[in-house]
Amino acid sequence: MAVYADEINRRRTFAIISHPDAGKTTLTEKFLLYGGAINLAGSVKGKATARHAVSDWMEIEKERGISVTSSVLQFEYGGFCINILDTPGHQDFSEDTYRTLMAADSAVMVIDASKGVEAQTRKLFKVCVMRKIPIFTFINKMDRDANDTFELLDEIEKELGIATCPVNWPIGSGKGFKGVYDRNKNVVLTFSDTEKGTKEGETTEVPVDDKGKLAEIIGTDAADKLLDEIELLDGASAEFDLEAVRSGDLTPVFFGSALTNFGVEDFLKHFLEMTTTPLPRKADIGVIDPVENNFSAFVFKIQANMNKAHRDRIAFMRICSGKFEASMEVKHVQGDKVMRLSQPQQIMADERKILDEAYAGDIIGVFDPGIFSIGDTICMPKEKFCYEGIPTFAPEHFARVRQIDTMKRKQFVKGITQIAQEGAIQIFQELSTGMEEIIVGVVGVLQFDVLKYRLENEYNVEIRLEPLPYEHIRWIENKDEINMDKLVGTSDMKKIQDLKGNPLLLFINSWSVGMTLDRNKGLVLSEFGRN
Ligand code: G4P
Repeated sequence: MAVYADEINRRRTFAIISHPDAGKTTLTEKFLLYGGAINLAGSVKGKATARHAVSDWMEIEKERGISVTSSVLQFEYGGFCINILDTPGHQDFSEDTYRTLMAADSAVMVIDASKGVEAQTRKLFKVCVMRKIPIFTFINKMDRDANDTFELLDEIEKELGIATCPVNWPIGSGKGFKGVYDRNKNVVLTFSDTEKGTKEGETTEVPVDDKGKLAEIIGTDAADKLLDEIELLDGASAEFDLEAVRSGDLTPVFFGSALTNFGVEDFLKHFLEMTTTPLPRKADIGVIDPVENNFSAFVFKIQANMNKAHRDRIAFMRICSGKFEASMEVKHVQGDKVMRLSQPQQIMADERKILDEAYAGDIIGVFDPGIFSIGDTICMPKEKFCYEGIPTFAPEHFARVRQIDTMKRKQFVKGITQIAQEGAIQIFQELSTGMEEIIVGVVGVLQFDVLKYRLENEYNVEIRLEPLPYEHIRWIENKDEINMDKLVGTSDMKKIQDLKGNPLLLFINSWSVGMTLDRNKGLVLSEFGRN
């Protein structure tokens, strides 16, 4: 057993996902408050003076009020070393969320109790379920009028296809919010509003078996309703099963109010007990164990210009095994190079701290002179293996990009290529026409705005985007066996290639995909590319 096994085993690395405004930032602030990382909730997001969170780097985010990129926060609580990965709260960035989830061992899903699963976030949440990692649900804003509790759970089950198991149960909501019933302890924890949650409220524990006392404290009507609901709940809800939680089939659900600081610490404690230590990961040589194996990591995100003052590019790596030391030599497998990682740092939004060491479960950011790609593996110099790639999502919107000032060709190509390397967009060329015609594919249309904004602001290049009608893209799985010139498609089909020269097909209609397969015997098409 490695001498630093304890360091690894006390790590908990999770992503936090929510619809914008559900309360992700507020909940994170409260976590940090309990961990002593900040003294007063609200320091992370100086709401009174600024509308943006620490995690919002780009101007465009501030303008639109959405979190485009993700950041990482680390703090200590109860002997655990916790890494929180923030994710963008808009479905147009669900691919970014998916990549971040690849770096996490579990996810916390924050839902606004008065909104339920919101249309815009359905895709994000589904992406979370797709990863098959444990998902913990925090239903927030119980101090406001909420939807019916059973309906909320039903919605999560139906919309996301995951079973729910309430760990606690709310008593009323809004002005009538009395607290929660803790199903394990069989007690009611009473709610007391605190001054915007800057300090903990006083909570009284009342055993539900003592009906007289319960009625006295929460009122007769609320007590009767609660007892009825408990009966219903015991009959209707899924049994708590840690195995099912760990395999991502069952989500433990907690109710609370992040703003008033109710149910947050309780949630954090339960969560830390139920979630896992850093998980082993699959590589091409087999499973890599976080404790037994030497240092290894993979790149899950590349971010340029996180801060206007530093015009640089940072590659975010999740350490999967062993201990990292800043002075040591490592191998970048895809580049087949032994190197020292440049300026390894822990990044807390705008703040950066140079690291001396880090362990499996941690996320480090390193300065990237343009050598890393998403999905790349880093390991010890004498070893060589690759972690499974991160799938790229099929873009659903396409546009032709035209430069307004053709004299700036070089900056344009550089800008668009770098932005594509970061995985924000995918770029294609019409087959055999060279770099003249560039087609951009994105998963969500907001990414077009990000591209335009970034090219103008970072590369000083103005572009015009001409939307194209294609909606379906297919990679050719058996490209070596197919002669692209002889491929017979439908009239709405377009042949393109990606940056690596892989041939692809674009279609306007979904039925054309089947038709093309029928017309070309042996052709194998795939909806996913791999980084
Ligand atoms: P996000 O990161 O998921 O986008 O949400 P964020 O935490 O920024 O919260 C969005 C709004 O919801 C904020 O209000 C926040 O204060 C409020 N909020 C968060 N949790 C709760 C809760 O448990 N109860 C209630 N009632 N509100 C909550 P805002 O008006 O945008 O900001 P502020 O001016 O109130 O600070």
